[in-house]
Amino acid sequence: MNSKKISIAIDGPAGSGKSTIAKEVALKFGYTYIDTGAMYRAITFKALRENICLTDEQQLTQLANHISIVLVYEPLIDGTQLHVIMDGSDVSEEIRSIEVTNNVSVVAAVSGVREAMVLLQQKMALTGGVVMDGRDIGTVVLPQAELKIFLTASVTERSKRRWLELKEKGIMVELQELEEQIRQRDYLDSHREISPLCQAKQAILLDTTSLTIDQVVTKVIELACTKGAQFDNYLMNKYR
Ligand code: DC
Repeated sequence: MNSKKISIAIDGPAGSGKSTIAKEVALKFGYTYIDTGAMYRAITFKALRENICLTDEQQLTQLANHISIVLVYEPLIDGTQLHVIMDGSDVSEEIRSIEVTNNVSVVAAVSGVREAMVLLQQKMALTGGVVMDGRDIGTVVLPQAELKIFLTASVTERSKRRWLELKEKGIMVELQELEEQIRQRDYLDSHREISPLCQAKQAILLDTTSLTIDQVVTKVIELACTKGAQFDNYLMNKYR
């Protein structure tokens, strides 16, 4: 069957539910899921590990030009786990640490780092059939994407979601502290000089503050179908 494979760009601030939604949507259509935030996190993790000064743009750019990042998402084998392989090692856990989270916005603001990552992301999307989430996907990485979504939710709601996520992992933090960190990250991500977080012109805005995951997934799937995406029945039956 000659089914059309489209590209879906999902942008939005931290904690708006991008990765949860993107993974589900990718699974329904049998598309590749690409978490671009994980790529910036991998560079940040490597920079911290190698004691690189995070204001040294030249060194960070060099690091980004030589890093190998492979994203492996095999829901049939591994549930909803995304594996991030950096220079041959699985760093999926390490890149979610609080230290990486608190420093990633600074690294992601470096132009050389962004140039290297955007090229890599565009290569990953060459074949179509991708769901890519991030901050600049609809505006810079895949401006030709057939479907662009801008997901958002109130800061309070996003902080609560992160708090619950961390609690499930046994990490206890003050909700207020988390809210402050999210506000700060929002500010840095949307005020940086290069590719700041903003809604692409043709992007559809979805405020998820009072919506369930299922409601958002259903909405995005409906929109994707109107753009020509077709379900992967084999994957759906296997996974359910
Ligand atoms: O989605 P996340 O929280 O894992 O993203 C980590 C950081 O990376 C976030 O502070 C913004 C940055 N980022 C970016 O600048 N551009 C992207 N396409 C994706 C993430």
